[in-house]
Amino acid sequence: MPEASILGIESSCDETAAAVVRSGEKLLSNVVLSQIATHQPYGGVVPELASREHLRAIVPVVRRALYDAGESYESIDAIAVTQGPGLAGALLVGISYAKALAFALGKPLITVNHLEGHIHAVLLEERQKGDFRMDFPLLALVVSGGHTHLFLAEQREGAWGYENIGRTRDDAAGEAFDKVAKLLALGYPGGPIIDALARHGNPQAVPFGLVQIKHHNRGVPKDRQTPHDFSFSGIKTAVLRYVELEGMREVVATRQKALATIAHPKLEDVLPLCDRKTLDLVASFQRAVVEDLVAKTLDAAREREVRTLFVTGGVAANSELRATFEKEAAMERLPVYFPSRKLSTDNAAMIAAAAYPKFLIGDFANPEFSAEASLALR
Ligand code: KG4
Ligand code: ZN
Repeated sequence: MPEASILGIESSCDETAAAVVRSGEKLLSNVVLSQIATHQPYGGVVPELASREHLRAIVPVVRRALYDAGESYESIDAIAVTQGPGLAGALLVGISYAKALAFALGKPLITVNHLEGHIHAVLLEERQKGDFRMDFPLLALVVSGGHTHLFLAEQREGAWGYENIGRTRDDAAGEAFDKVAKLLALGYPGGPIIDALARHGNPQAVPFGLVQIKHHNRGVPKDRQTPHDFSFSGIKTAVLRYVELEGMREVVATRQKALATIAHPKLEDVLPLCDRKTLDLVASFQRAVVEDLVAKTLDAAREREVRTLFVTGGVAANSELRATFEKEAAMERLPVYFPSRKLSTDNAAMIAAAAYPKFLIGDFANPEFSAEASLALR
């Protein structure tokens, strides 16, 4: 198979990222510039600010990725860029730059679906460790701030194909982490801080049975039933109700005031501001989300007789999610793979890795293509 150094560019949300990956398996560089500090005061990503920050960062980030890889604009074999899904304005920054670069250098340009990138982050991770062989059917849970999807993946004549067999009906799991952190005034983004705080609470303290969507297929024709769907807006509302019923508003307000004076709050800043009730609530929330993700994914795996499981996306960085998947999948003798934490959250290495099979079959972008905010993965 021909070798190729591919420059990946990713700008779909709040990370400006560029990376060089050799032949889908060797990570030569991986530069991720996070905009967390920009969006932190708002408790969520502000699309206009994201586009502005990508514009500022894209040229130096790409230059740095080439430098770290020991490559140059001339030496790379192709350029890969995220086409969607994501914020349209943010995607356009990466796409416009990738198009200009490909045109000026006369190099092929490859478009990658962001979700396919997350799946290939697992392959990249495993291939770096050595020769990786997987058995099909392969099921991938892509779980991040914007997505909660189950994809059956297969290889068709060198290219990858996907069937979406489950999705969230409302909020993504990462979105629930971020919203719960916001309503409890724990900081932004919510996932990493809840992950760290949950270790200090009792996960059995608050009984959340609400993540499960029970009768969601009632009345839906059989051929349109989706037994593997998720729903995370209910638990967010349940947390809010708990805060009100248990009289926690004042504690939240005090924490909010205290954290407002700290530029980039860390666990050491937040933990002393959390009472037992808050820690128990956070631990119970995380336990409920993790149990739901694991149970529904393993149900789907059983039903489709899956032989390999991938868990990827920002929420795959969660320690309890990893530990629970490892334990439960082992009981079913199902091999489960995650990317390292660095490759779980948004990055461009996964985009460059996903582009390699397309490079091999000459699946290059039409110069007319544009950003697609809701691009589906097939
Ligand atoms: O994949 P990603 O970087 O961006 C999207 O494509 O959305 O995922 C970001 C999401 C955020 O919602 C963040 O709170 C969540 O991943 N996240 C986590 C953890 N680290 C990041 N959620 C739970 N536990 C974590 N350790
Ligand atoms: Zn992502």
